Amino acid sequence: MARHFILNTGAKIPSVGLGTYSIDPDVVGDAIIAVVKAGYRHIDCARMYGNEKEIGVALKKLFDDGLVKREDLFITSKLWCTDLAPEDVPVALDSTLTDLQLDYVDLYLVHWPFRVKKGTSISPENFVQLDIPATWEAMEKLYDSQKARAIGVSNFSSKKLGDLLAIARIPPAVNQVECHPCWNQTKLHTFCQSKGVLLSAYSPLGSPGSSKIRTSILTNPIVKMVADKLDKTPAQIALRWGLQMGHIVLPKSTKESRMKENIELFDWSIPEELFVKFSEIEQVRLIRGDPFVHPESIYKSHDELWDGEI
Ligand code: A2P
Repeated sequence: MARHFILNTGAKIPSVGLGTYSIDPDVVGDAIIAVVKAGYRHIDCARMYGNEKEIGVALKKLFDDGLVKREDLFITSKLWCTDLAPEDVPVALDSTLTDLQLDYVDLYLVHWPFRVKKGTSISPENFVQLDIPATWEAMEKLYDSQKARAIGVSNFSSKKLGDLLAIARIPPAVNQVECHPCWNQTKLHTFCQSKGVLLSAYSPLGSPGSSKIRTSILTNPIVKMVADKLDKTPAQIALRWGLQMGHIVLPKSTKESRMKENIELFDWSIPEELFVKFSEIEQVRLIRGDPFVHPESIYKSHDELWDGEI
């Protein structure tokens, strides 16, 4: 198992990255420094996470102290729903670059296929019509300028990704979606592979810390059985499953011991006879996109948001 996948741009992307959603701004800086010391070279950020400024300070410290060079890190950020108007897209990336104290990101993603009025929150009175071709053209210009070395999307169904591929001058390099043994995204994964789009898995552990989550991957009997057989932790099994499926995995932790555990995935594998057992796991989407589904939204139901992949 290689430590990198190759994007359709030709660039290498480390197959394990640190997810930074909901990491408190007060602790994210220490987490970034610890994770780089633990060997991670891929950090997944987003403007919406509200902690890019603190991540930027930590990155600068890492570069200044000579722990790592900019070109050794793969940094992703995401365009939030308030900034999908074509004229707002480059401004949003510039703000992110200022906060991260970087000249470019390695990957810039459209965070959701959803738009609200600039400067507002996700609430029905702020909903605005989506025009993905116009937004994407603006994303393509960021790629042309190399301020974004690759561009992609997040939370796109196979249908929405197919519609985008049909009009794109620069095809998306990545679709970042929820993916783990309890929501394996088989259909989307097959579609992505057939189109040269890399699937990147957020919540690869099923976000066990979230109060809203209704199923536990880390206590799933099949995951536990495989963990016991291979003398690994359930988290390592869930992550290694993702790598063997061919996904990027973006586990999040602020604890050094778990950061290390979550990247010790490369000198062992899940043998075929155990790997097939994962297909028996009951499937449930954990992140359903509730705020985007509303009678006044372009998505009246979850089925419309995910185009049946629910
Ligand atoms: P913590 O930050 O306290 O380590 P996901 O990446 O699927 O969203 O899951 C993140 C959650 O899983 C966080 O609450 C994190 O808690 C926890 N977590 C991360 N790594 C592990 C691990 N190896 N074992 C158990 N829980 C973990």
